[in-house]
Amino acid sequence: MIICQTIAEVKSHISNYRMEQGQQAKVGFVPTMGFLHEGHASLLRRSKQECGLTVLSIFVNPLQFGPNEDFDRYPRDEERDLQVARQEGADVVFMPSVREMYPVPAKTRVLVSGVTERLCGASRPGHFDGVGTVVSKLFHIVGPDRAYFGLKDAQQVAVITTMVRDLNMPVEIVPCETVREQDGLALSSRNVYLSPEQRMQAVVLSQALALAGQLAAKSTLGADELQRRLSEYITAEAPIAVIDYVEVLSYPDLEQLQPGEPLGSVGGSWIVALAVKFGTTRLIDNRLFWAKEVSSHV
Ligand code: PAF
Repeated sequence: MIICQTIAEVKSHISNYRMEQGQQAKVGFVPTMGFLHEGHASLLRRSKQECGLTVLSIFVNPLQFGPNEDFDRYPRDEERDLQVARQEGADVVFMPSVREMYPVPAKTRVLVSGVTERLCGASRPGHFDGVGTVVSKLFHIVGPDRAYFGLKDAQQVAVITTMVRDLNMPVEIVPCETVREQDGLALSSRNVYLSPEQRMQAVVLSQALALAGQLAAKSTLGADELQRRLSEYITAEAPIAVIDYVEVLSYPDLEQLQPGEPLGSVGGSWIVALAVKFGTTRLIDNRLFWAKEVSSHV
């Protein structure tokens, strides 16, 4: 496994690989902010299955954190990350410093409109401009054929897919299923912030999504009614939870569905998206549905 700290090094390894392999070369890319868990490992495994060279990036991107967010205390463990990367067979790990990525204050931002306006885009102003900008930079540096993203951040997947489409970036975005703990909690690097009591109650997110599946199967329910029922459920089951949002929107456009329109007759796919705070820790989760089948789809 090759570890690169500079853009020049990583570019040179990838271009050597492409020169050696010629037309056959397939570069898979897993961009992360480190503190790797089983969700990231599953992305690496998928890339290994599908591509000849797997590149992992580990970079906590300051641009996507708001002034009062957790950039400074975001969990980091370089040694363990490298162990996981080695175990999962990553070929190249790109771990740049902030100075390497942003040697001068960046004046350019990649802004995707529409899909960034609701959900985390509304709660975390500027967050997706930071994500779009860094992912675009990383795509230019790595030049992958395929890039792997977890669907726990379904809005991020929608933003990146839209950016790649609109800017004709020559990379295929591969959305991958959310990996969960045994009790249903979606894996996230931020789960380490949770106290034992918060961790116990955090299971309410996946339980609410399971309830959404049951209620949606009734198919006469509208988006607004489903939102209301899920909010009530979360408040009742997890008294220490503070709801940031419970939303039912079209996916991947993330537009409002017709109020009152039965979910069973929605034409495309749609998403139930949740963001809930436990103390200062904000957790997100979601479930995707095809309206016709009323079953989760990834
Ligand atoms: O999902 C993440 O970890 C980050 O948003 C990403 C895509 C690595 C960009 O910093």
